Amino acid sequence: MSPECVHTHTLSFFALAFGTFVWIRSALLWHGARPMGLGWVTQRATRFWGLHKTHCHHPALLPTATDPSWLFPGRYQIHTGLQHSIIRPRQPNCLPLDQVTLPQKLQEAGYSTHMVGKWHLGFYKKECLPTRRGFDTFLGSLTGNVDYYTYDNCDGPGVCGYDLHEGEDVAWDQSGKYSTFLYAQRVSKILASHSPREPIFIYVAFQAVHTPLQSPKEYIYRYRSMGNVARRKYAAMVTCMDEAVKNITWALKKYGYYDNSVIVFSTDNGGQTFSGGSNWPLRGRKGTYWEGGVRGIGFVHSPLIKRKRRTSWALVHITDWYPTLVSLARGNLSNVPGLDGYNVWPAISTPKFLPIRPPRATS
Ligand SMILES: *[C@@H]1O[C@H](CO)[C@@H](O)[C@H](O)[C@H]1NC(C)=O
Ligand SMILES: *[C@@H]1O[C@H](CO)[C@@H](O)[C@H](O)[C@H]1NC(C)=O
Repeated sequence: MSPECVHTHTLSFFALAFGTFVWIRSALLWHGARPMGLGWVTQRATRFWGLHKTHCHHPALLPTATDPSWLFPGRYQIHTGLQHSIIRPRQPNCLPLDQVTLPQKLQEAGYSTHMVGKWHLGFYKKECLPTRRGFDTFLGSLTGNVDYYTYDNCDGPGVCGYDLHEGEDVAWDQSGKYSTFLYAQRVSKILASHSPREPIFIYVAFQAVHTPLQSPKEYIYRYRSMGNVARRKYAAMVTCMDEAVKNITWALKKYGYYDNSVIVFSTDNGGQTFSGGSNWPLRGRKGTYWEGGVRGIGFVHSPLIKRKRRTSWALVHITDWYPTLVSLARGNLSNVPGLDGYNVWPAISTPKFLPIRPPRATS
């Protein structure tokens, strides 16, 4: 099995205020029952507007799971040449430089743009870095699968490196801090130092809950009765990430952004059942073409949405966020031909577009 198939998944979080966009990405599941460890997030998801199980990926890309490679160009990977699995640390490749990215379009529309978390879209030359692809600031990892504390990553025996970056520099001084805490704190700091009257876009790609399965001890204790050790750690990591989303939402409120914000919470693929994930009642796992691999979950939460607490079974594709968010930000889409997605805001914000039908359980 190729190493990327042993990964679990990552989550991200996105906000736009005035929007503040906050985007959360992870591979979390709430198919069927209330998802383990996601108490805070799901309460909000159902209390407000739930984009339930709608965030789907084309199976053809599935084994790659590099969700931003669809999100940022707004195109299928087959249109950017990134359909051949993930970009490996030693591979001289990145998101093609002719692609106008989602954050670039938001910059054009007057947004300040910030990225916190996992990039994984290539870094073999400076032009590929997040700070050259539309983000004013960046704190995070350029590769996948780094250690949550040491930020070490090995691409084979003896081929190891430290991967935590601040802007275009190595962030040696942040080593040792668990990434979920580090990233949530960074978002609060960005919000504290920015004005809620100015538009801002924040993309938060949590490392959690991808492998390696690592959690601070205090979150594991409550799951001590779980026999499956991987599942126990996974649950703890989800719980910590849930708290991070809560903290970010509190920060949006504390610093005056919340009333004008749109929060999108989404995942990049189904759970990896070899590393604590479960997609029940859907069949399959990350890296397969079954629904458990390609059907993700997500929600949109915003005080601007009048009709709250809706669950939709409509199909939303990751490439839909590009035209949706750029339109919300009143950006100009006429100079980015060939987008594969559609503006889905009408389906999100109005009751006119009713749920289609819930998926069938396969068990
Ligand atoms: C959330 O904020 C509280 C209070 O500041 C802090 O103790 C906790 O560690 C934070 N949790 C995360 C996951 O960032
Ligand atoms: C949008 O971009 C196109 C092409 O760059 C330009 O011709 C047009 O005037 C722009 N529209 C607005 C409303 O800025």
